[in-house]
Amino acid sequence: MESPSTERKAVIIDGKAIAQTIRSEIADEVRVLSQNYGKVPGLAVVIVGNRKDSQSYVTMKRMACAEVGIKSFDIDLPENVLEDELINKVHELNANPDVHGILVQLPLPKHINEERVLSEISIEKDVDGFHPLNIGKLAMKGREPLFQPCTPKGCLELLTRSGISVKGKNAVVVGRSNIVGLPVSLLLLKADATVTIVHSHTSDPESVIREADIVIAAAGQAMMIKSGWIKPGAAVIDVGTNAVDDPSKKSGYRLVGDVDFQEACKVAGWITPVPGGVGPMTVAMLLKNTLDGAKRVIQQ
Ligand code: GUN
Repeated sequence: MESPSTERKAVIIDGKAIAQTIRSEIADEVRVLSQNYGKVPGLAVVIVGNRKDSQSYVTMKRMACAEVGIKSFDIDLPENVLEDELINKVHELNANPDVHGILVQLPLPKHINEERVLSEISIEKDVDGFHPLNIGKLAMKGREPLFQPCTPKGCLELLTRSGISVKGKNAVVVGRSNIVGLPVSLLLLKADATVTIVHSHTSDPESVIREADIVIAAAGQAMMIKSGWIKPGAAVIDVGTNAVDDPSKKSGYRLVGDVDFQEACKVAGWITPVPGGVGPMTVAMLLKNTLDGAKRVIQQ
């Protein structure tokens, strides 16, 4: 008879609790900055249009600022705003000494050239780390960007704070987006992992993922990664936030990750839940980047 005790149970990495610890560390530092210099960090959060998901992310970011004492500058622009108007707003924020970080929520409406907008943000205020110069420095050996992108930085922080070493490990990143897949691959490489990226043209993703000591799932495909694809004992960081229909919920949907969590728990060594894993860390890292940007200016 199969004993249930032989079933492996992964350590669930509690991103919400880790993020809360980081937020209280940031609140302490903001208080000290305010006492010593009479100034607080400022973050401008710019949103264009009415996308429901973007609005809820932006609301979370603004509320998190208030909780730790960061002043948030709320810029809400209509869906049909002209690219030049948005860029003028970015220039205005670049010149405002009370603003230490500028975040333009993505995606932007189709008529706006995202690349142009992101390139206009001053690299000293690029708390998202999406400016081509910051990404370029992230990619190069011996160079350091002023800011690392928030979600990738949050993934690495979860590994570090869970005692999982990256050096020399096989890390597989599933997805190659500019926001997560690509920059998290670069961060893992900087941390001396052997990095493989799986994407939509990879011929046999399962066999690649099965070799991974660390899996970063950022494909945006609900429960795509099955337990049989995971190497026993691997660390699984699930960045996916996918809404699936669930008539038992009042909202009619629930959020699931890119990994089949229930089954993967029996195989993985560590795993992040969705929600409550990577999501809260993205916000915590945004606050950290804003604090670091402000310290560079205020303490100079
Ligand atoms: N859209 C989804 N994730 C992010 C993020 O981390 N930053 C910005 N600016 N937009 C996003």
